[in-house]
Amino acid sequence: MFQSEVYVNRRRGLLQQMASRGAHGVAVFLGNVDAATNYRGNDYKFRQDSNFLYYWGIDEPWFAAVLDLDSAQECLYGNDVDIDDIIWMGPQPTVASKGAAIGCAATAPLADFYKAVTAAVAAGRPVHFLPPARYYNQMKLSQLTGIDSEAVRKVGPVAAGGASEELVKSVVAMRLIKEECEIEELDKAAEIGYWMHTEARRGCKPGVLEQEIVGRMEGVTYSKGWGPSFTTILSQNGETLHNHSHHQIITPGRLLVVDAGAESNTHYASDFTRTYPCSGKFTTKQREIYDIVQQANDNAFALTKPGTTYWDVHYATARFLLEGLKALDLVRGDVDEMLPLGISGLFMPHGLGHNMGMDVHDMEDLGENYVGYAEDQKRHPLLGLGNLRMARRLEPGHVITDEPGIYFIPALIEQWKREGTDKGFVNYEKLAGYYDFGGIRLEDDVLVTADGARRLGPHRLPILSSDIEDVMAQE
Ligand code: GLY
Ligand code: MN
Repeated sequence: MFQSEVYVNRRRGLLQQMASRGAHGVAVFLGNVDAATNYRGNDYKFRQDSNFLYYWGIDEPWFAAVLDLDSAQECLYGNDVDIDDIIWMGPQPTVASKGAAIGCAATAPLADFYKAVTAAVAAGRPVHFLPPARYYNQMKLSQLTGIDSEAVRKVGPVAAGGASEELVKSVVAMRLIKEECEIEELDKAAEIGYWMHTEARRGCKPGVLEQEIVGRMEGVTYSKGWGPSFTTILSQNGETLHNHSHHQIITPGRLLVVDAGAESNTHYASDFTRTYPCSGKFTTKQREIYDIVQQANDNAFALTKPGTTYWDVHYATARFLLEGLKALDLVRGDVDEMLPLGISGLFMPHGLGHNMGMDVHDMEDLGENYVGYAEDQKRHPLLGLGNLRMARRLEPGHVITDEPGIYFIPALIEQWKREGTDKGFVNYEKLAGYYDFGGIRLEDDVLVTADGARRLGPHRLPILSSDIEDVMAQE
């Protein structure tokens, strides 16, 4: 938890944000509750709702809060422990002392939260809430407000009777720009990510089961922080973008994609990707593709600075990749012509990056477009170009990922060939030799600074193909 002033200032900032949007009524926040894995009492590891954590700091289940937008009164709701809890959990600080730690003087039992929300609804006051990520909170909000259980997840003006667009926009405006104390945590998460990936690289040896590497690298995140920031992606079938199956044996000649990150103890994320030659050395064919992706990553980083949109960096990266693929005769023709036709999407069907903070895809629970696109920006309709999650004009304090990739996805290539999607720019004859190639992605985490950008974390994971080979030879 940060100092209490951090939370006080955030709630004050939220009141200002909401006032600037002409919002009245109350803003209500539901923390997460325990979630059973197979029976009550055997729960998933608790993870607090990030929005609750941001404004109310309490990293425990069964808390909620109300911020009155008209009177600026606030209250934190939670239950003090009884003797049963003490037997199982030991003595716990009071809710009042937890409130004091976040600068909130008013506290009350959780049942009073339910009463406060239903009273606000009965009085006809606007009740602003965020679209709930968890099913329990979805049901609870529906029950308290009388709004249909699906409608509570739909974001629109509060008057429309659903999740509050005014609140979503206010929260996004604040959480997008990271404070100094958050940047320190993000640097810590990046350092854990560095050691996590170092463990993975050391484990990448012929004969080893992928699952074994995952276990060891995730162990690093538990020993140094909260745990993984998302389900680890580690696979020799790197052409499957989010491959969570880890059942294969590391095999010489193949490539291993490792996309994984850690959460610091205060729940700030990192997210890195590296791709390793399983035999310790890239083949010529692998190195040719690898070097294009590596240079695209560096090129994107060099373009990342305040005032530029991340859409522009994404588009420049698509161009860069196509130029590299053209040099290898995998695409043919004028890059300026193929670029707006989305030909890069065949090779990189995802975006260059996303926002990152307390969530690895920061705030995407609030809606990807609200988070990643300004009001005057529209998503591109085509595969790849349109898969960018963060297109906004960059400002100091933004934290984003830089993760270009090139993949050879046989089913997608076959579909494009059948349907003529490539408009004649793709050399399918040469591409036929890449069906067993897999994929390559290289990802760093980047903070936009006043005059440019810096990569998060004290060390950068080796990335040059020659450095990867050297370090793998030493290990
Ligand atoms: N690292 C996983 C992702 O960015 O989706
Ligand atoms: Mn990522």
